[in-house]
Amino acid sequence: MIMMEIVFATHNQHKTQEAKAIVGPNWTLKDLHEIGCHTDIPETADTLMGNALQKAQFVVGHYHMNCFADDTGLEIESLDGRPGVFSARYAGEKCSFADNVNKVLSEMKGMTNRKACFKTVIALILDGETYYFEGRVDGQITTEPHGEGGFGYDPIFLPDGYDKTFAELGMDVKNKISHRGRAMQKLMAFLNNGGK
Ligand code: IMP
Repeated sequence: MIMMEIVFATHNQHKTQEAKAIVGPNWTLKDLHEIGCHTDIPETADTLMGNALQKAQFVVGHYHMNCFADDTGLEIESLDGRPGVFSARYAGEKCSFADNVNKVLSEMKGMTNRKACFKTVIALILDGETYYFEGRVDGQITTEPHGEGGFGYDPIFLPDGYDKTFAELGMDVKNKISHRGRAMQKLMAFLNNGGK
């Protein structure tokens, strides 16, 4: 069997682990660290699609390898869709995941509508062609953090149909139902079907 290499343009070890768990046997998946790229790739577009494409194009341009990149936003209904495309740096340039969580919780203090969704867009550049894959999960924002697993806003996101946050559910469950898991499943189905 011929193994094909593909780069996942991320420095986030959580994401690499999630992707490697579902990539399938035909592909060798490498992240930025594994190809020796230590650059913080710019994400300056104002849409998830634009940012995902920007990251994938950077890798293809510099490393000449097939690549995919993702961008995710948490959209909260009562915050008019914020933090959205600004999810990574919602509490400021050098903020931590905990800073972002605290900012969301304090902005939502006393709010009863706690509906939110995560959206992921993946841009794949395969043999020079660009393809997009999207995933979404709906849920509620809790009033305080619960759980130690995952990353980002996981401790305050309660997916619909579950009574535990993403940070409590564990990677296997999260991978099956999450925004990125769903987008990734579409990507993997495409890759494992020979790029069709
Ligand atoms: P990224 O640009 O795709 O890494 O996503 C932007 C930000 O969204 C991250 O810095 C996290 O704060 C948040 N985020 C992305 N994916 C997840 C997730 O699976 N769970 C919780 N937060 C996430």
